[in-house]
Order: sequence, then C-alpha cells, then structure tokens
Amino acid sequence: MPAAKTNPKILVIDDDDDLRYSLKRVFSSKHYDVFEADSGEAGIKVAEAKKPDVILLDNRMGGMSGIEALQHLRGINPHTMIILMTAYGTTQTTIEAMKFGAFDYIMKPFDLKKILALTEAAVAASGDLVRASKGESKRGISQEDVDGGIIGSSAAMQDVFKMIGQVAASEVTVMITGESGTGKELIARSIYQNSLRSQKPYIAVNCAAIPENLIESELFGHEKGSFTGATSQRIGKFELCDGGTIFLDEIGDMALTTQTKILRALQEGEIQRVGSSETIKVDVRMLAATNKPLEAMVKEKTFREDLYYRLNVVRIQLPPLRERMEDVPLLVEFALKRLAAESKAHVNSISPEALAVLQKYNWPGNVRELENMIYRSAVMAQSETILVKDLPAELLAAVGANAAGKTSPSDGDEDVEGASAPAGAAAEINQNAVSPISLGMDSFDAAYQALRADQGENILERAEREFIQCALRESGGKQVKAAQILGITRATLRKRIDQYDLGT
Ligand SMILES: Nc1ncnc2c1ncn2[C@@H]1O[C@H](COP(=O)(O)OP(=O)(O)OP(=O)(O)O)[C@@H](O)[C@H]1O
Ligand SMILES: [Mg+2]
Repeated sequence: MPAAKTNPKILVIDDDDDLRYSLKRVFSSKHYDVFEADSGEAGIKVAEAKKPDVILLDNRMGGMSGIEALQHLRGINPHTMIILMTAYGTTQTTIEAMKFGAFDYIMKPFDLKKILALTEAAVAASGDLVRASKGESKRGISQEDVDGGIIGSSAAMQDVFKMIGQVAASEVTVMITGESGTGKELIARSIYQNSLRSQKPYIAVNCAAIPENLIESELFGHEKGSFTGATSQRIGKFELCDGGTIFLDEIGDMALTTQTKILRALQEGEIQRVGSSETIKVDVRMLAATNKPLEAMVKEKTFREDLYYRLNVVRIQLPPLRERMEDVPLLVEFALKRLAAESKAHVNSISPEALAVLQKYNWPGNVRELENMIYRSAVMAQSETILVKDLPAELLAAVGANAAGKTSPSDGDEDVEGASAPAGAAAEINQNAVSPISLGMDSFDAAYQALRADQGENILERAEREFIQCALRESGGKQVKAAQILGITRATLRKRIDQYDLGT
C-alpha cells in the first residue's frame, strides 16, 4: 500500500499558529514534506488529499478534539501513524489515544529532539505497516471509565494508561502487580471497560476471600450431590462469564490444585463442574492481580510456573504512591470530590500546608490509605478546608519524624477565612521555613524592592498574582497543572483567579 517515497510526508494539525510554524521549520529542514491544518476538520481533508505518513495531532482544539479527529483519521489511510500532542496528560486521553490506534502521544511542551525521534520511529513503523488489531474498537466506551476515575499525571502512571490502551482491545491475559492499594482492581476494570468485551459480563473473584474447599465450586460450579452440602446444581463464575472477562484478584493466594484447573481453562478454554465429567467450553478473557511476589513463589513451588507464564503475558506493574508523589494533589482533589458527591460533605479543599505534609508521607498503604486519610481529615475539619491540624495524628507524627530539618514552602498562613493559626505539626514545620532569598534567589529581593517602590498595592497579593500568572502560562492555562506547580489545590487556585480577575 504505501508507495515508495522520497520524502516522508507529515501533517501537523494544531490550532496554534506558532507551534505549526516551528514544527514546519524543523521538519522541512529534515527533508520532510510538511502539510498543515489548523483544525481537526481541516486536517481530515488534508489527510484525505495528501495521505501523510505521520500526523502530529493536537488534542485540544476549537471544534473537533484531537481524540475525535483521531478516530476519523485512522480510517483514512491504514499506514498513517498518528502522534497525539496533549497539553496535559489525563488518564482518559492517554488511554483513548492508544486505544483508537495512535502510534504514540507526547506531552506539551516537548523538546524538538524528542518529537523528531518519535516521528522518525513513526515513519519507520508506517513503512513496516505491522499494525496489530488495536484501534479497531470503535463503539461504546469512555463514559463509564471517566466515571471509573483513575487519576495520575506522573510519567509512571501515564505509562500504565498507555498500556491499558494498548492491551485493552486485544484478548491477551494481563497480570497486574503492585503493592496493596495501588489500584490494581481499578486498572483491571478499566481494561475491561475499554475492551471489545465491554458489553459482556465482568466478574471479579477474590481468590483470597474464598475458602480453599469452596473455590473450585465457586469458579467452575458443581453438580447436585457432588459433595456434602451440594444440595442443588450450581453454575460457576466461568460459565456465568462466558463471552466476558474474569478478574482473578489475589491470585497469589490460590491453592495449587485450583491453579491447575485455572491453567486448563486458560489453555483449553474448558472447565468441568465439580462432580461432573462433562467438559464445558467457555470463552473468557482472564485478568489477574496480586501483591505477592509471584516469581519467588514460583521458585518455592507454591505457584505453578506454567500458570505463571500463561498469566504473565502482559504485565502491568503499578508504582507505589511514594514513587509518584506528584500525583498526590490530584488524588486528594479527586478524593474530596468523591466525598462531596457521596455525602455532601462541607469540605471542599485542603490548605497548601496540609498538602505539603501529605507529600512528605511515605504512604505504605498507597492510594487506599490516602483516600482514608482524606476522609478522616474531612470529618475533623471545622471549615471547608482541611488544615494541618485536621490530619490524623499518626500521619503528623510520621511526617514530623521524616521532615526533620525539611522546610515548608509557605509561611503558615493557611488559606481559609478566619482560621486560627495552625497548631502542632504545622507550626513546627513552618518555623523551619527558609526564605527564598536565603536559598540564593536574590532576584526576589529585587522584585520586592520594585514592588515596594510601586506603592498602592498589597505586595504579597501582587507577588501571588504574578506567580499564578507564571504557573498558568507554563501550564498553558490548565488549572489542574498550574495548581500542582504552585502546590495549592485547584479550588484554591480558582478562588485566586477570581480574586485577581485572571480568568480568561
Ligand atoms: N490511580 C488512582 N486514581 C484514583 N483512585 C485510585 C487510584 N488507585 C487506587 N485508587 C483508589 O484506591 C483504592 C484502592 O484501590 P484498589 O482496590 O484498586 O487497590 P489494589 O491494588 O487492588 O489493592 P489490594 O492489593 O489491597 O487489593 C480504591 O478506592 C481506588 O478507587
Ligand atoms: Mg485489590
């Protein structure tokens, strides 16, 4: 299909004139033929006419979004590789980009070297045209898993989302590993929701929760009278789930005899009810998860090696929260939203100081523990904002120990009207605060002097306004990102934007 070409053709679809201009310059100088379009709609027309090898596609444009355009563009020419450019990676965009067959995605702002390398790889892949069947799922999706709410803007989580998108539409078995509370169950559900089987049943089985003598009957069913207590026939989960997806959670806790039967179901697509010699064909996709060290268990022979390899076709390893602290503000915001939706709680934000404390904690229980801490703190909070004093004592104690000598970036003026001075740990931490000037940032001194000369306005407010503008510029106007940069919650940022009239 792809004719031999002298110059690879690239189409840049972005409503940002400056970005198109600079990409055009760079790629032209590297012997690409560059075409441009300033909207998804226009891009589709150009793609139809020019059949580019690679499309660089902006996600956020007026009119059609990049994801929408992607779905049309993929249908135009099978050898065209599409790279989605996102201003700020959200879970759903990344998953959808990969699911709808994007070659890859890149986060703005990117450096030109990176996009050149990515484009070269895409051109090579376009030539190879080895495209798996991914991206062919065109129906019913997304809304549910927006509701499913998996949060994470860290690079590690972005990789996870990308993998979900890549594996969801295939039939492969996926093994999800990670510490307790890292979101394994959530990821399994998301794979299912994004899969071609999303309209079929999904059954999660917690292998650790079912007694060993009952698990076989639970999974495969039994015949009446097959064992004491089997007073009637029972249809097992595998049969119930025919055509769908079964999630074997805590698979590391499954007995060896059951493992053997699972292996058979996987390998042969067959099961037998307990007490029956009849073989029943079942078509299920299996997902599995564990927080146990399966490799070590294989060595100790407590987990079957053959089953391990069967399940471990694709491995999604979830990073512990302590290795992606940058996700904490978003997760907190998400937990607060959920709380508000569930209980109409009066709490809707968290002070920067309290957030800073959360970002110093080690989170052995990962996201589950974070949610729990937020819920507990919300109960304690007297105002609509969680303050340091509202955080659970054991967390403050743990952080107090860790935070020795560390500093808080702020001055202890927790941002809530009428709040009393923060007590306990907050005050301790704040006492250690180091001023930016003593950190060697002497331009602060200059800024201070300039603001001082320009009387008439509150210096702190001026400074705050400047910083907020800087962060909004850096984040391309994305409030979530800007709030993260500033170390405040989005709710607080919104308040400030209103206060300083920075809204656009
Ligand atoms: N990335 C995330 N975004 C939002 N919520 C999350 C995320 N990861 C986990 N959670 C939430 O944290 C809690 C624990 O997640 P989940 O039950 O999926 O963890 P797990 O890895 O299965 O833990 P365990 O090994 O203990 O079973 C859930 O309430 C889930 O909604
Ligand atoms: Mg779990």
